[in-house]
Amino acid sequence: MPTSPAIPTFFYGTAWKQDRTAALTEQALRAGFRAIDTANQRRHYFEAAVGEGIAVAYNACIVSRADLFLQTKFTYRRGQDHRLPYDPEASLSTQVAQSLASSLEHLHTDHVDSFILHGPASNYDWTEFDAEVWEAMRRERDAGRTRLLGVGNVSLSHLEQMAASGAELPTFVQNRCFASLGWDREIRDFCRAHQIIYQGFSLLTANVDAVHHPRIANLAKSLNATQPQIIFAFAQSIGILPLTGTSNAEHMKQDLASANLTLPPESINAIETLAM
Ligand SMILES: NC(=O)c1ccc[n+]([C@@H]2O[C@H](COP(=O)([O-])OP(=O)(O)OC[C@H]3O[C@@H](n4cnc5c(N)ncnc54)[C@H](OP(=O)(O)O)[C@@H]3O)[C@@H](O)[C@H]2O)c1
Repeated sequence: MPTSPAIPTFFYGTAWKQDRTAALTEQALRAGFRAIDTANQRRHYFEAAVGEGIAVAYNACIVSRADLFLQTKFTYRRGQDHRLPYDPEASLSTQVAQSLASSLEHLHTDHVDSFILHGPASNYDWTEFDAEVWEAMRRERDAGRTRLLGVGNVSLSHLEQMAASGAELPTFVQNRCFASLGWDREIRDFCRAHQIIYQGFSLLTANVDAVHHPRIANLAKSLNATQPQIIFAFAQSIGILPLTGTSNAEHMKQDLASANLTLPPESINAIETLAM
């Protein structure tokens, strides 16, 4: 089993960066991020360029592979465009193996730290397709090509059906986190009960009203912080492992520094129900 770092407390997300992907990945590593989230889904990510950015950081001795936590994803055909990382005619199990092999090539490594099922096949149920893919992902893990496994874009019903099927539960759930749903409260409760780490994305972009709420603004002022920093500090204080996709060097530093903010307990409770 490859050795890898502990799980970092903030992930840098590489979606939607196109030709800036390599430079921004390198910049994120220079800023201090040690976890990189990507996907073998060319439609939204440029995984090969993530690998280029990491390689530049290796050459500049900013990080070594042992310092890094690399996370990628398997994406079903329906979430892809024509630039597929697998043979669409092959079985799902083969597609999983081909997708991860291609990710390892993109990222110049023999293993990733986390491999996520980008989203289940159906929006409602944990289907036989997901069961096959999950089994193939487990085989990749057992062969040492990923350390940990996760699922993304899941509902409570997906997770409950997955558990009821007797499947091994994931180490991670990665979901878009809406303040209007109590910051994905139901799913976070399930995760807590099953020792699953909840990764939250779109914490700022899905919650524009919350970011600009007077309570957040006042708290930011009193702590000499920015409103996005309050959201990230809040997320961490309720056990969410946050992702950021910032393209701004100053914001990279601010996002990482949010971990050092201590919010008063009454504020944490109030923010949790801010938009419900
Ligand atoms: N599993 C999935 O289906 C899925 C889906 C979506 C995303 N993700 C992952 O999650 C990552 C993050 O996505 P996201 O939706 O959370 O973020 P995002 O869409 O990349 O956007 C982050 C936004 O927040 C702003 N921002 C960040 N830090 C800030 C700060 N300190 N002050 C002010 N503005 C700040 C950024 O603006 P600036 O650039 O100006 O800072 C940007 O507009 C993605 O890159 C991807 O890796 C996964």
